[in-house]
Amino acid sequence: MAPQHAIVVGSGLAGLAAASQLLTHNIPVVLLERAARTGGNSIKASSGINGAPTPYQPIQDSREAFYNDSVRSAMTNYGAHRMKLIARLTDNSASAVEWLVKDKGIELTRVAHLGGHTYPRTHRGVTGIPPGYEIVSTVLRDLKEDPRGLFDLRTSCTVTSVLQTDQRVTGVEYEKADGETVTLHGPVIFASGGFAGAADALAQYQPDLAGYPSTNDPRPASLPLLTAVGAQLLGMQEVQVHPTGFVDPVNPSSPLKFLAPEMLRGEGGILLRDGHRFVNELETRDIVTQAITSTDPTPPVLAKQWNIQLVLDESTYNATKSHVDFYLSKGLMKKSTIADLGPEPLDTITGYCSVAARKAPDEFNRKYPRSWTLQDPTPESVVYVGTVTPVIHYTMGGALINENAQILREDDTPIEGLWGAGEVTGGVHGRNRLGGSSLLECVVFGRIAGDQCAEYIKSGSMTP
Ligand SMILES: Cc1cc2nc3c(=O)[nH]c(=O)nc-3n(C[C@H](O)[C@H](O)[C@H](O)COP(=O)(O)OP(=O)(O)OC[C@H]3O[C@@H](n4cnc5c(N)ncnc54)[C@H](O)[C@@H]3O)c2cc1C
Ligand SMILES: *[C@@H]1O[C@H](CO)[C@@H](O)[C@H](O)[C@H]1NC(C)=O
Ligand SMILES: *[C@@H]1O[C@H](CO)[C@@H](O)[C@H](O)[C@H]1NC(C)=O
Repeated sequence: MAPQHAIVVGSGLAGLAAASQLLTHNIPVVLLERAARTGGNSIKASSGINGAPTPYQPIQDSREAFYNDSVRSAMTNYGAHRMKLIARLTDNSASAVEWLVKDKGIELTRVAHLGGHTYPRTHRGVTGIPPGYEIVSTVLRDLKEDPRGLFDLRTSCTVTSVLQTDQRVTGVEYEKADGETVTLHGPVIFASGGFAGAADALAQYQPDLAGYPSTNDPRPASLPLLTAVGAQLLGMQEVQVHPTGFVDPVNPSSPLKFLAPEMLRGEGGILLRDGHRFVNELETRDIVTQAITSTDPTPPVLAKQWNIQLVLDESTYNATKSHVDFYLSKGLMKKSTIADLGPEPLDTITGYCSVAARKAPDEFNRKYPRSWTLQDPTPESVVYVGTVTPVIHYTMGGALINENAQILREDDTPIEGLWGAGEVTGGVHGRNRLGGSSLLECVVFGRIAGDQCAEYIKSGSMTP
């Protein structure tokens, strides 16, 4: 008899990490992906993945510092259960990065300092290939090259229901592109991503965000499939508005924006409103967003759109060159001079040069600024600039899991045969996710889900 396979739903990093782990236990995997292409939102990730402490970090860091930052950013006392999830995440961050580096051969030696982090800890490669693409394509290639052929990827297959017998998940039903419905048996790992692109779910859970543009393509949420088998949802109103999406000068009213990754600020970029800085650019996303949205939107574009300038000096450009060259080619940023920005920025930028050189403290309390090579700026000094506005980006809420990635019922008991990992889950990030912690949760909880599901199969639990 062929060994029992596991079913993984979603080909983003959470699903791929789970699949990879299942294969290490010799468990065959059927991975179902509704899109024609693989990678979900994970493939778009452009800043990197958190890990602490790792040998690649420029400043000595610790698990505890990362844990503390995550708790502070979550901004909510979620009780012991949720604290355990944060501990799982931060206890396993260094090993998650090592897994990608050592097991998968991915180079992740460039480390950026993102908002809300005490130290730089967001890893990407030096090659300039965006980290989401690099990580997803490498892990996927590794799965496809499995010499035993244990990996069965089925794209354009949309899971339409989760099957349950006697309070136990026993498989899924999915629909193929031609409309045919297929029933598949096996334990299930749900890694179907968030609902930041699902207009109906956003309108239901966070109507205050109507009128904001988004970084996420419109697509329906898959959480109703989980609630149908009794999953408990948590924190559904906690939707992350990322402070910086690019306003395309050619199409300023587009509701879909390219993300201006946080790494651009982490590597030295500053934000200007009417020519002045107004916030520590490395505060958490919710705080930077609040600082922007506390003023009136800039008419007459979208109901919720602002006109903020993201400015990089030459050394910041050099550190982020491959990304910025792409934004330059798309017309989302331009190479400019300080004079081109208007009369005010010269003084502002002169002031920030002293902060970046650590000659003066920052009035907004920006810590460990990356140094700028720009020193005595003149109106002719070169800067790189783009217009940015807050964008709906990520959903902190979702299906509640425990530290073993089991999806929990309303009464907090695990649903047998069902695990969750990645953005589909809720509770890990509280009210605000730190940049770089999403790819991290995909790896950490994806791998845990894979291990747990393999154990479940090996223990014979699937045998009727
Ligand atoms: C532009 C952008 C940049 C980002 N940058 C970073 C970053 O630098 N660092 C970071 O940590 N995070 C970043 N994030 C967030 C991060 O990329 C995602 O939150 C995370 O990768 C989600 O991974 P996932 O595996 O949970 O879901 P996804 O990668 O979204 O994958 C879910 C997959 O499930 C599929 N699916 C859904 N429903 C079904 C169904 N019913 N049947 C079959 N398949 C289904 C979807 O089609 C999708 O392919 C970024 C996000 C965006 C949008
Ligand atoms: C983390 O927070 C605890 C409790 O506030 C504190 O005692 C500890 O020193 C902090 N550790 C670090 C590394 O910041
Ligand atoms: C940026 O890189 C270019 C090309 O390598 C180099 O000539 C220039 O001096 C660098 N500029 C700064 C400010 O680091």
